[in-house]
Amino acid sequence: METISSPADLRNRTLAALRAGKTIGFVPTMGALHAGHASLIRRARAENDLLVVSIFVNPAQFGPAEDLDRYPRDIPRDTALCEREKVDLLFLPRVEDVYPPGFDTFVAPGRAAEGLCGASRPNHFRGVATVVLKFFSVVRPTRAYFGEKDYQQIAVIRRMARDLDLDAEIVPCPTVREADGLAMSSRNAFLSPEERTTATVLFRAVSAMARSRETGERRAAVLREAGGSVLAAEPAFRVEYLEIRDAETLDPIETCDRPAVALLAGRIGGVRLIDNVRLPCD
Ligand code: PAF
Repeated sequence: METISSPADLRNRTLAALRAGKTIGFVPTMGALHAGHASLIRRARAENDLLVVSIFVNPAQFGPAEDLDRYPRDIPRDTALCEREKVDLLFLPRVEDVYPPGFDTFVAPGRAAEGLCGASRPNHFRGVATVVLKFFSVVRPTRAYFGEKDYQQIAVIRRMARDLDLDAEIVPCPTVREADGLAMSSRNAFLSPEERTTATVLFRAVSAMARSRETGERRAAVLREAGGSVLAAEPAFRVEYLEIRDAETLDPIETCDRPAVALLAGRIGGVRLIDNVRLPCD
């Protein structure tokens, strides 16, 4: 595995691979890699000739009061994981490589970025879309892999890829969970043992909604109540949103008469967690 920090050097490597007729798989990450990232990397390894992973804690997607400074960073451990998973190129740019002095152009995502996480994190998806577009123009991936835990992020990136005629295929990958259902997230490391126990409430709540849907309930309000009553029993979890949306467009829906998704976000102490589950169709 080779580690590269210069975008220009990486572009030369990926252009050479494309000219040689190779496919390029790309897994963008912010590091603190866990089993969820490993599953994306493994899939990308299996489906492409050249595998590029990026680790970059992107300041543009954090709000001023958010956890940019304390976001977990462990480059030696992440590098070892990438070696084990047979990554070809590990892209580790510095902030000034990505946002040089004078940088002043951002992608403005549309409806997919409104509401849900976009409501409490106003410029978050603008920062995500901007860095993903920049990395796509350096890596030129054939396929790019994203975890479904960040469901709205995938919707924003898929929309951007269509609207801006990007070549990359956006590949959503299933959420990887701990044995008790908690979705893997780099932020789980911030939870105290007690908070870690409380955190199972996210999966319990969205699972209750999926079960209610499976038994034939289609009214979004009633499905929300099924999740809401699970959350009400855990006062240490402060709900930010619990919503049912169209699985493709993320538009709000009142009746599950098409593929839908239940999405949940909230805080335990100072840690913000999200989860979602697809609701089956009739
Ligand atoms: O999902 C993440 O880790 C980040 O939002 C991403 C896609 C790497 C962009 O910084």
